[in-house]
Amino acid sequence: MSVRIVYGEEGVCDAVELLRHGGVVGLPTETVYGLAGNAFDPLAIARIFEAKGRPLTDPLIVHLPEVSWIERIVQFSSLEQQAIVVKLAEAFWPGPLTLLLPKHPELPELVTAGSDQVAVRVTAHPLFQAILHRLGSPLAAPSANRFGRISPTSASDVRIELGESISLILDGGPCEHGVESTIISIQGDHLGILRPGPITIDQLKEYGHVSSLAGNMNTPGSLPGHYAPKKRLQIIDSDILSLPPGGRVGLMAFNTSFKEIHEQYAAVEVLSLSGNLKEAAANFYGALRRLDQSNVDWILAQPVPEKGIGVAIMDRLRRASHGSSHGTGHQDSNSLLR
Ligand code: TXA
Ligand code: MG
Repeated sequence: MSVRIVYGEEGVCDAVELLRHGGVVGLPTETVYGLAGNAFDPLAIARIFEAKGRPLTDPLIVHLPEVSWIERIVQFSSLEQQAIVVKLAEAFWPGPLTLLLPKHPELPELVTAGSDQVAVRVTAHPLFQAILHRLGSPLAAPSANRFGRISPTSASDVRIELGESISLILDGGPCEHGVESTIISIQGDHLGILRPGPITIDQLKEYGHVSSLAGNMNTPGSLPGHYAPKKRLQIIDSDILSLPPGGRVGLMAFNTSFKEIHEQYAAVEVLSLSGNLKEAAANFYGALRRLDQSNVDWILAQPVPEKGIGVAIMDRLRRASHGSSHGTGHQDSNSLLR
């Protein structure tokens, strides 16, 4: 199959046409690119799993055309739950927040991998929104990467990941946030963060008691070893950045620009020269992908401050580096031969 990359209004028309006939399309969102299919068409859903090589046990996020669609996807367990969702929706939708809620019986089971919970969000990306409105149906969309691999933040990333298995990608330029949406569960007035993302703990605090449940989500995407590059990746302490490592080593730095440090590495990516965490998040997956594709033998990554969206960056970095010995910066033959 040869993949076509399309743009603008014409691209939106092509995407809608394909989705109407049960096809799947690579689409931009404000977080990362998604691989979308009609949420009410089990064949389209099956095509998403197949194209990604994703296990059928790993559920998909449903993207709503409008907040009002939620009642056809979700069956609220109480009026209290509905009230808190209304408040969260007013505050954060359209935007990078995903809510885990009881599933409506009419939504195909394949979407939620048999679970009685469904993840829903309303994306803020104008192209994705235009498609949802014209199609008049919600779209299920996981990130548009092969299962377990680095999430795509540009149309060409999607082509690298899925170009052999899908026929259409809508190019909407680089993604604004660069890391996936924040996923939360709602129990009474308790909000549990299952996956940290662009909507931060501080932003959510106003709407309930917030706690981090990251690591408690029992689905493959939340397992360590996800978001992984092919090269070995190790997180280092910022103060040992200047140790000369052996072999051809790539460095993913947060904000360092010292020339003498750069000279020790075969390739360097700086996430944000000014130390801006939002900019770092937007550059994160692209930098990891470029280092992975370069001719380095392994990659060292400098941690970023764990505040705001930095929590999400460190979450992805830890999962991506799973299998390496963290924090020491010293070469460990076992971890480096993973
Ligand atoms: O920003 C995002 O959320 C992007 C864009 C495309 O919307 N989507 C995304 O989807 O990151 P995905 O499938 O790559 O990650 C969703 C995560 C997975 O770890 C999945 O297992 C989990 O959410 N998930 C989805 N539905 C779930 C459910 N019903 N119960 C538990 N976990 C669920
Ligand atoms: Mg994903």
